[in-house]
Amino acid sequence: MNTALGTTILPAGEAATREVARVLGSGGLVAFPTETVYGLGADATNATAVAGIYQAKGRPSFNPLISHVSDLDQARQIGVFDAQAAALATAFWPGPLTLVVPKTKDCPVAELATAGLETIAIRVPAHPIAREILKTFGRPVVAPSANISGHVSPTSAAHVESDLSGRIDLIVDGGPVNVGVESTIVGCFDEPVLLRPGGLPREEIERVLGRPLVQLPHDAASDSVQPLAPGMLASHYAPRARVRLNATTIEPGEALLAFGSSPPPGASNAAAVMNLSARSNLAEAAANLFGYLRVLDARQAHTIAVMPIPNEGLGEAINDRLRRAAIGRD
Ligand code: TXA
Ligand code: MG
Repeated sequence: MNTALGTTILPAGEAATREVARVLGSGGLVAFPTETVYGLGADATNATAVAGIYQAKGRPSFNPLISHVSDLDQARQIGVFDAQAAALATAFWPGPLTLVVPKTKDCPVAELATAGLETIAIRVPAHPIAREILKTFGRPVVAPSANISGHVSPTSAAHVESDLSGRIDLIVDGGPVNVGVESTIVGCFDEPVLLRPGGLPREEIERVLGRPLVQLPHDAASDSVQPLAPGMLASHYAPRARVRLNATTIEPGEALLAFGSSPPPGASNAAAVMNLSARSNLAEAAANLFGYLRVLDARQAHTIAVMPIPNEGLGEAINDRLRRAAIGRD
């Protein structure tokens, strides 16, 4: 075992797998090999751990993440598979294919991991080390590529180390991975859509479906794309209520999304109050963001007033998401 700035690096094996399960179970971050690229994993059901991923990667926005599971049975606990989705899962899992399907009603995956969406991206990786880890841990693991945001995806433990050393708890070294590009992402909507080309060729998917995949003009997973048809793409979660940002006073009847320990004038007349983090902790605020927006929206106030949130670290991603919520559905 060697350590650099608090990040432990372990050679893949039984001892490493046990340690991974322990670290994930206590909310830590672990990089491990999948057949496509190294992933940065966290317990998908632990919102604070998920917030840690965005923090470690320095992501300025909350992209929804892929939940990794060990098999189709486990996938069915978090996502709803119609005949078409089940056919793709049966044909290509384990493997470099991610399926976007509706969430189950009692889906235990944190709202932050799906960025508040009603759909969830699920993958069963084929790499033996990833499979061992997922089987041993037993819960879904969210894992984006294990690199700093904007850097190329890592295909070796050394790549991960150079980007994330000192920012994550553990790296499992399983040698170089062989696909080297991310999984192909298919949206299992009424018309199946190729959301991201990747390690599994489109033609193979179309052969199983018996029909062509709808192709998007650009990288559909990026925020800059115009949806081809309503509902086909992952539209951003937006509350029904109006969202008023940087609120320093609260009007009677508004719902208040608070941050920090000093409520603004008028807070006592708010229709409802949720505090993202009374101790001004941005990771805690990120973990609570989507859930609290939903809670306040359900209270039927016409407006959700949001206190100012510092625009540093995870605050950047929180403010990005709140600005989108303020604009409405896009
Ligand atoms: O090969 C891979 O897929 C790797 C390994 C580690 O598994 N992971 C990976 O994750 O590439 P990431 O976070 O870099 O990419 C996830 C993509 C993002 O483009 C995101 O927008 C999309 O999946 N995504 C996640 N949930 C979605 C959803 N509900 N609807 C549409 N797109 C979704
Ligand atoms: Mg990536």
